[in-house]
Amino acid sequence: MNNKICFIGGGNMASSLIGGLINNAYPSELISVTDPDKDKLDQLAQQFSINITTDNQTAVKHADVIVLAVKPQILADVCNSIKDALQGKSALIISIAAGIRSTDIDRWLGNNNAIVRCMPNTPSLIQAGATGLYANPKTSAVQKKVAEQILAAAGITLWVEDELLLDAVTAVSGSGPAYFFLFMEAMQRAGTQLGLDEQTAGLLAKQTALGAARMALEGDDDPATLRAKVTSKGGTTAAAIASFEANHFEQIIQQALSAARDRAIELADELGRQ
Ligand SMILES: NC(=O)c1ccc[n+]([C@@H]2O[C@H](COP(=O)([O-])OP(=O)(O)OC[C@H]3O[C@@H](n4cnc5c(N)ncnc54)[C@H](OP(=O)(O)O)[C@@H]3O)[C@@H](O)[C@H]2O)c1
Repeated sequence: MNNKICFIGGGNMASSLIGGLINNAYPSELISVTDPDKDKLDQLAQQFSINITTDNQTAVKHADVIVLAVKPQILADVCNSIKDALQGKSALIISIAAGIRSTDIDRWLGNNNAIVRCMPNTPSLIQAGATGLYANPKTSAVQKKVAEQILAAAGITLWVEDELLLDAVTAVSGSGPAYFFLFMEAMQRAGTQLGLDEQTAGLLAKQTALGAARMALEGDDDPATLRAKVTSKGGTTAAAIASFEANHFEQIIQQALSAARDRAIELADELGRQ
C-alpha cells in the first residue's frame, strides 16, 4: 500500500485498474498516470484524484512500480523513451501489453529489470477479468505480491511458471470472451429461427450464460457434473448435446484454441523483432 505506482498510458485498461485500486482503498496520491492526451488526463484526475503528467520520464523517475499500459505496437518506443530514467532504480515493471515477451521488454529497457508480464482480458474493464501473470527471474516474491495486488483490482489472477504458457492463457481467457459472445450470438439467431423475437432470444442467451458461469464458479460441482445433472436420458438437453457431439464440438474448440495459441506466438515474434 506504500508503493508509488505509475501507469504509462491512461486508456481503458489503466482506468479500470486505477478504479479497482481506488475502490480497494489504495491511496490516490501514490498513483500517477501519463498520456499524451491532456483531456484524458484531466478526466482521470477529476475522477480519481491521482497525479497526472504528459512526461513519461519524470513520472518513471518517481515511481516504484511502472505499469506499461500502452498498445503493443508502440511499447518498444515507449520503453526506449523511459530507459534512461530507469537507470539506478530497482523499479518493478508490469506489462499488460498483449503478446510482448518479457525478454523483449527487458532488452528494450536495458536488460536488468524485474518484469511481470500479464495477460488480462476484456471483462477486466468491469472488474470481472481473468489475468495470467508471469514473473521473470529478477522479480522478488514481494514484487510478485505487488503485481498481483494491482491486477487483482480487475478480477482473478493466476500465475504461470513458464512464460510460454501465457500463449495458452491468451487462447483460453485472453481471446475467450469473444468465444462466449459468438456462442451467445449463435444461440440468439437459433432462438429467433425457432420463433422467438430477437430481443427475447438474446436476453435468454445472455442470462443463461451468466447463470451457468455463476453455477460453475460458485458451486462445488465441476462443469461436467453440472452438465450431467441437467441432462436427463432421452430429454431435450441430451438431444442438443448429442447433436453437438455428432458435429465434433470438442474438436472444434481444440482447433480454435490451438489457432489462437499459434497466432499469439506469431504476433510475439513479429512485435518483439523491433
Ligand atoms: N482492453 C482490453 O480488454 C485488454 C485486454 C488485454 C490486454 N490489453 C492490453 O492493455 C494495453 C492497453 O489497452 P487499452 O485497451 O487500455 O488501450 P487504450 O485504451 O488505447 O490505452 C492506451 C493509452 O496509451 C496512450 N498512449 C499512446 N502513446 C503513449 C505514450 N507514448 N506514452 C503514454 N501513453 C501513450 C494512448 O493515447 P492515444 O489514444 O492518444 O494514442 C491511450 O490513451 C494494450 O497493450 C492491450 O494489449 C487490453
